[in-house]
Amino acid sequence: MATNIIDFQNCFILLFLCFFSLLCYTLFFRKPKDFTLPPSPPSLPIIGHLHLLLSVLIHRSLQKLSSKYGSILYLRIFSSPIVLVSSASVAYEIFRAHDVNISSRGFPPSEDSLFAGSSSFISAPYGDYFKFMKKVLVTNLLGTQALKRSRRVRADELDRFYNKLYENAGKKETVEIFEEALKLTNNSICKLIMGRCCPEEEGVVERLKELATELDFLSKKILFANLLPSWLKKLVLSLFKKEVKVLSNSFNELLEKILVEHEEKQGEQHQDKDLIDMLLAAYGDENAEYKITRNHIKSFYVDLLFAGITNSALPIQWILAEIINSPKTLERLRRELDSMVGTTRLIQETDLPNLPYLQAVVKEGLRLHPPEPIFERFFQEGCKVGGFYVPEKTTLMVNAYAVMRDPKYWADPDEFKPERFLDTWQEEERKEQALKYIPFGSGRRGCPGENLAHILIGTAIGVMIQGFEWRFKEDKVNMEEAVAGLSLTMAHPLMCTPVARTLNPLTSGGSF
Ligand code: HEM
Repeated sequence: MATNIIDFQNCFILLFLCFFSLLCYTLFFRKPKDFTLPPSPPSLPIIGHLHLLLSVLIHRSLQKLSSKYGSILYLRIFSSPIVLVSSASVAYEIFRAHDVNISSRGFPPSEDSLFAGSSSFISAPYGDYFKFMKKVLVTNLLGTQALKRSRRVRADELDRFYNKLYENAGKKETVEIFEEALKLTNNSICKLIMGRCCPEEEGVVERLKELATELDFLSKKILFANLLPSWLKKLVLSLFKKEVKVLSNSFNELLEKILVEHEEKQGEQHQDKDLIDMLLAAYGDENAEYKITRNHIKSFYVDLLFAGITNSALPIQWILAEIINSPKTLERLRRELDSMVGTTRLIQETDLPNLPYLQAVVKEGLRLHPPEPIFERFFQEGCKVGGFYVPEKTTLMVNAYAVMRDPKYWADPDEFKPERFLDTWQEEERKEQALKYIPFGSGRRGCPGENLAHILIGTAIGVMIQGFEWRFKEDKVNMEEAVAGLSLTMAHPLMCTPVARTLNPLTSGGSF
């Protein structure tokens, strides 16, 4: 009898403990339904999903992962959380409902260097400094009025681009398209951002091009390190600390020279103040809206070189390759150019609004081959996306490449069909579905250089098609992809020979 009572008591204690544990688990550990995280593909112990981000064509491997596990995924690198978005509908929801929440990139300054450092514009949180610099940037460089004022600079560079190709054609020389495109975008952007003090004869523009290319490669490492938990990040960054320092010093030396030259000429009378003048004035003004430092100015320039030059050159190569592969596109494009611009003068940027098919070709090229296939932001606060919970301080990775090839939103998503931007993009659809087309990102931190990029790419393609036939050895261009630095490029750089379409060179541009 006594044993029975003890058994009963033990049983009761056991039951009580079970009930109590269940209660504690429910109260303290189990997350309510609302806190369900997005689906997560299988991960490895400790490193989590790190191995998935090490693939060479990362945009492709993440696109495949999303088509298997879902358009919003929760990944983890060690303990650092990432939400990966790969569909137009989820991108739409995030940018429409959470734009403020994701308006910083969440890159803690890695070094006191001129890039990705504490003075960087691209890495800056969405605050007073960012807003001040953005205003200066739009007013003096990238806004519609500023772009109008700087037309002459781009027209000169476009002439130079055409004349060089015409010379190549005369000598029957094969041209590496990306190299020529890079010269065009580098010279144009350097001259635009440096204003009247662009000491070309001293090789500064050429040197800046070299530094911008090095920066593209180094940035990939910095970006990757930023995804790691802080203890590991410090370790990884220390591995290329010296590289960062050397590159930052090279930029510093060159940009300091340009600032000094500007300061020396500040007393002179100029019709227009350029971007450096405006920034130097803000630097010297005790009552400026935001007190910037000299390092802010230099860092800003490095950001603009980094963000603009390669990104604008890569699509020129991709688009020409697509046109060579599509004789129908070439024919229609040439018809449009010949009828709207003519056959004696060279296209100029004021022609672009009258060339809808050329614009559609550029858009389609950027859709299929976005130079930045993935871009990053940061969720400051927890929020709900696609019915899932995203915790605060989670990195957001948007796979723009996958979004712009999402078969739910794009018919024949992998095919080059510029007509799609002529036929279907009516005004209401544009608003609703704008977020399926995101080569320039979106929202408050979307690319401020979109208009300039469209001008540079549109006119370059216009010149190449209006002025030349292109001889190419193979039947088709090989469109295999590669990633160089952070950018999506061609695995086999496009090499072809221009043949001038006119006996005499086309006359340059025209009125401004
Ligand atoms: C085809 C050419 C270009 C492409 C595809 C491109 C693409 C992008 C993308 C995807 C972003 C990130 C957007 C986001 O987070 O939502 C970005 C940011 C940026 N781009 Fe561009 N870009 C191009 C050309 C340019 C040019 C010509 C400039 C200026 C000279 C420029 C300046 C910037 C700057 C300053 C940012 C950072 C904006 C911020 O953090 O708020 N880009 N670009």
